Amino acid sequence: MERKEFIKKFAVGGSILLTAPVLFNACSDDSTEPDNGGGTNNTIVDLGQTAYSALGTVGGSANKGNIIIIRTGDTSYIALSNVCTHQQCTVGYNHGTTELICPCHGSKYSTSGAVTNGPAPTSLKKYTVTKDGNSLKIS
Ligand code: FES
Repeated sequence: MERKEFIKKFAVGGSILLTAPVLFNACSDDSTEPDNGGGTNNTIVDLGQTAYSALGTVGGSANKGNIIIIRTGDTSYIALSNVCTHQQCTVGYNHGTTELICPCHGSKYSTSGAVTNGPAPTSLKKYTVTKDGNSLKIS
C-alpha cells in the first residue's frame, strides 16, 4: 500500500471511528424522563395501588421505573430520578436523614436532588408532581 492510499484509507476509517460513539450515544436510551408508554413524558401513579401504599404516610417512598416518589407532607410529594449519577445504581430514600443514598459507593443526595456526598458527579433529575384526586402526575 502506498503512502497516499494509506492516508486516504486512514482518514475515512478514522472519521468513522470518531463519529461512531456519537451515533451510538444518540441512539442509546439512558434517559430518566418519565414515560407512561404513551410517549407523553408523563407518569401517572395510582395511589390506590398496593405498590404505592408506602406513600400513604409522610416520609414514605416508592419507585416507579426509574423514578422515586417521596411523600414529604400531607399533600406534598417530590419525584426524582432514582438512578445514581455515578454508575447508575438505584438510590433509596432514608426518611430518618431525609437523604437519598446510593448503596453502591455511598453517594448521598438531598431531596432537591443535589449531591451532598460523592462520588456522584451531578444531581439527580427532579420532576414536577401534581396531585389529582388519588393520582400523581409526574412530568
Ligand atoms: S453508583 Fe452510586 S455512588 Fe457509585
